[in-house]
Amino acid sequence: MAEPPGVAAPFGLLAELTHRCPLRCGYCSNPVDLVARGDELDTATWCSVFDQARALGVLQVHLSGGEPLARGDLPELVGHAAGLGCYVNLVTSGLGLTVERLAGVDHVQLSVQDADEAGANRIAGVKAFGAKLRAAEVVRGAGLPLTVNVVLHRLNVDHVDELVALAERMGADRLELAHTQYYGWALRNRAALLPTREQVARAAGAVAAARSRSGMEIVHVVADYHEAHPKPCMHGWGARQLTVAPNGDVLPCPAAGVIDGLGVENVRDRPLGDIWRSSPAFTAFRGFDWMREPCRSCARRELDFGGCRCQAFQLTGDAAATDPVCTLSPHRGLVDAILAGDPTDVEHRAVVR
Ligand code: SF4
Ligand code: FES
Repeated sequence: MAEPPGVAAPFGLLAELTHRCPLRCGYCSNPVDLVARGDELDTATWCSVFDQARALGVLQVHLSGGEPLARGDLPELVGHAAGLGCYVNLVTSGLGLTVERLAGVDHVQLSVQDADEAGANRIAGVKAFGAKLRAAEVVRGAGLPLTVNVVLHRLNVDHVDELVALAERMGADRLELAHTQYYGWALRNRAALLPTREQVARAAGAVAAARSRSGMEIVHVVADYHEAHPKPCMHGWGARQLTVAPNGDVLPCPAAGVIDGLGVENVRDRPLGDIWRSSPAFTAFRGFDWMREPCRSCARRELDFGGCRCQAFQLTGDAAATDPVCTLSPHRGLVDAILAGDPTDVEHRAVVR
């Protein structure tokens, strides 16, 4: 079906197959109220979601969670998405990964918590480091491209050199070093996770040096709160990607469930294409008409789309506000106050999960 003017087809689907996960990372951006196993979409419904997404124009399917390997029907789901001609990306902790479970997968993103075993296991909340090294071997043995994902925060941000060396040892094609985004559990644990300005600057220097010496592609997602302008979250609301939560809720971004009154619809009740095109949740902040000043007349609005709606809501209570990370926002003081907060002694503060 032809799209109405102004509503382009989505490029990617993030399929959060389950919130179940063997790890207990304090930086997890999943909602604090996790979807229970009994509320997860069944195999046939997920396959229908993939059919509808492909018909809508989706080319990339990111199978995520939680831990997608926790789904016993993962091979069937991968096979279905691959059979539609989609590029299938598996986003995994690596625990339980076998070569059989990679059939049909095009690319693997493997999370790593820190560069050494004790630190990594401490952040993951379980002994997972050895399994991750074995998972990397399985991926490489299968001849698949491997991205190692590391979420950076106060506990590991000083280990960039060691993380680069580890990713090289694991045979990664690409390393993503992404500063924590403060949603879900990460927002709850922000005081313990937030790096200092000095740490952020040192990490940026270490990334630049590593890029000049390593053959691996290194992606650096900067520390949002420390920037002068916000991130172009999702490359615009309802513009390129959609997320289907484990229970079938269809969201413009993985965190959008935090915004009160958004009008989130469920794929059990309405076709995916209709939700993408006209659900209140997707139309609320699509394009530029919803913007107020200072974004409305700002030259950067087509670069950052006014920042992140979820962050605006979380920090100001108003999802239509300029992202408070922006130095032009009347709410920037909220972020500065967070950054100026007393440093937290993480050795004496449990990361809650
Ligand atoms: Fe971006 Fe809005 Fe700030 Fe301009 S005022 S830089 S559009 S967030
Ligand atoms: Fe939801 Fe940024 S995380 S718009």
